[in-house]
Amino acid sequence: MNEEQIRDEMKKIKRNPIPKRTEEEINLFVKDLMSKMTLKEKIGQLYQTTHDGAAITGPSYDASQNKRLINEGMIGSFLGLYDNMDIYRLQKEAVEHTRLGIPLFFANDIIHGCRTSFPHNLAMACSWDPQLIQQASEVVAYESSHSGINMTFSPMLDIVRDPRWGRVMESYGEDPYIGQLYARAYVNGYQQGDLTSYDSVSACAKHFIGYGQVEGGREYNTVDMSERVLRQFYLPPFEAAVEAGCEAVMTSFNVYDSVPSTANKFLLRTILKDGMNFSGFIISDYTSSSEIIAHKVAKDMKEVAKKCMEAGLDHEMVSNAYIKHLETLVNEGQVSEHLIDDSCGRILKFKYKIGLFDNPYKNVYLNFEDYWLTDDNRRLAKEVALNSVVLLKNDDVLPLKSKKIALIGPLAKSIQVIGPWGGKARDEDCISLYDGLKNKFKDGIEINYSLGVDYHEMDEAIYQEAIDSAKQSDVVVLAMGEQQWMSGEAQSRANIDVPPVQLKLLKDLRKLGKKIVFVLFTGRPLDLRVVEENSDAIINAWFLGNESGNALADILYGDFNPSGRLTMSFPYIVGQIPVYYNHLNTGRPYDPNDYYRSKYNDIPNDPLYSFGYGLSYTKFSYNSIQFSQDEEGVTVQFTITNEGEYDGADVPQVYIEAKSFSVSRPVNELKGYKKVFLKAGESKNISIKVKKKDFAYYNIEMKKEVENGEYLVKLARNSQDIILSTTIFFER
Ligand code: BGC
Repeated sequence: MNEEQIRDEMKKIKRNPIPKRTEEEINLFVKDLMSKMTLKEKIGQLYQTTHDGAAITGPSYDASQNKRLINEGMIGSFLGLYDNMDIYRLQKEAVEHTRLGIPLFFANDIIHGCRTSFPHNLAMACSWDPQLIQQASEVVAYESSHSGINMTFSPMLDIVRDPRWGRVMESYGEDPYIGQLYARAYVNGYQQGDLTSYDSVSACAKHFIGYGQVEGGREYNTVDMSERVLRQFYLPPFEAAVEAGCEAVMTSFNVYDSVPSTANKFLLRTILKDGMNFSGFIISDYTSSSEIIAHKVAKDMKEVAKKCMEAGLDHEMVSNAYIKHLETLVNEGQVSEHLIDDSCGRILKFKYKIGLFDNPYKNVYLNFEDYWLTDDNRRLAKEVALNSVVLLKNDDVLPLKSKKIALIGPLAKSIQVIGPWGGKARDEDCISLYDGLKNKFKDGIEINYSLGVDYHEMDEAIYQEAIDSAKQSDVVVLAMGEQQWMSGEAQSRANIDVPPVQLKLLKDLRKLGKKIVFVLFTGRPLDLRVVEENSDAIINAWFLGNESGNALADILYGDFNPSGRLTMSFPYIVGQIPVYYNHLNTGRPYDPNDYYRSKYNDIPNDPLYSFGYGLSYTKFSYNSIQFSQDEEGVTVQFTITNEGEYDGADVPQVYIEAKSFSVSRPVNELKGYKKVFLKAGESKNISIKVKKKDFAYYNIEMKKEVENGEYLVKLARNSQDIILSTTIFFER
């Protein structure tokens, strides 16, 4: 068929409503279909590949056989397609030119925006606003489903404690409580409780599990953690995602207890499928099944197929051990056909549930771009951007009063502010900081712009020009940090400082005695000691997506009062990593008056900016604080007042600390918070409840229980700034 004919056919694609089926109806359909399938065809459903053999995030492979494989029913799904005509062609091949006409499904990495670009995920997490993230996820779902995508490889639910790891920008940070809230928000936003809808997309929670703890922050590295740490910290977000009905879970590249996740029966069967009653399907990460050979737990691809199938892996991404070897393994009696039936059944159920058997061309439109980047979506992107920004320092300089500013740095005029995993977003749809200020004030602002330095290099003349711009201005605004691709997959860094040439310029500008506002662009927490010493204010702008410049202009001039709070600590220095708020105590906790204590001799123990931290342009006071306890748990009540001149939101947080338990527990565990918006001068009565069951922890018998005993309950501004605490007891 030529292109014109395909276009004509695509124009006829309908949006017929897809019936919602009961579990029983779905099972019956799948049972009937599977009774007609050969073993080989069932195995074919377990394979996901790329269209043209492109190397997406790993090795490329020979795709010359793809057409034949589709025709033989040997491909179940594709990843990484961005062209609807390609999707249409492949689907047509599967539906019209195979024995049973089973449709393919199409998956993609749509992580923090399809065409509308939201801030990266760690940035969004700093909003402490799951409702907002759910709304953003609905937009992501709408735009990606209308691009013919059935599943997004998101949310990424890895707990992260090491900013050297480039992928921290995909996560929501270091806390399992926050992780659970966001897991639900993403899944509900993507799936909208209705996968037959043309506006929703299926979620795939990843990476199961422990990937956030790669040793030394080095990508794809070894992980070693106790089962208690796994269950207590790393598992809860996945539990929340599964409870919310997440359709798929992706394994991780790392080992757990020396067995790669992708071939780890304890993880995939004992914990996920059996323990959590997960009824969706498990997909490997990109070639992570064949990588178990490099992990040295399989000698060849045949053993890969056997081990992964036995472990519970349903769908293989890119590696082809299943389609090459499972049939033989079953015929030799080495693998039970029941396992293949179970995996195939899970994939077919998914396809039927989302309506691919009713309409295999669901949302495969020619005019898909018409659904992208609407004004409403841009407005939401701006709201999310505003809420993601964290004010790290402000010595009486922000919001800016003067309109005569020097704007300096590689990110001042840059539109490369999407960050990694940008989906289909485009740089040209992004607003630079410079343009954001111009949009806001037109000619009412004097911006003395200079590049100053590039990310890593400098030119004497341009450097001097920056110094001159600063001299002519009332205040210096620096737009510096990481280039957007410096974080993301395969972007580990052993040094997490702002590149040295940028720091040199900062220090030289400091000598001029002007006020300095440092606007930090980054995918990860950085070592900010030099920035902190040499700036009057620091705005953590992360990478904010389409509306970056407009949002930052509002923040710089006080039209929006920053309310973001960190969900990942900023270490004091790289040597302190991992540093996270919910750590255990030591037997010799820090005491400045005692020598033999747990400390560094050259730096503080605490991070530079801790979990929960973030400043505001206004001041909030807390009064009439009361703690009360009943059968159901503990309630903290208080009055919060906005004492300053700016409207704004504060985020009071409640932490607990178990004083004696059968195992050592963290010094702080976040158990509740509220984001409270107050007009200048306004007061509100707030109540935050922590249920008794939320005091539970995996005890010495590896059971999640609330043990009797003493607990501290703390009302706090952040994990290090406790306003008031009280002791409570649970007794039998
Ligand atoms: C990443 C996954 C991603 C997959 C497909 C892998 O390298 O770890 O997060 O979904 O590639 O692009």
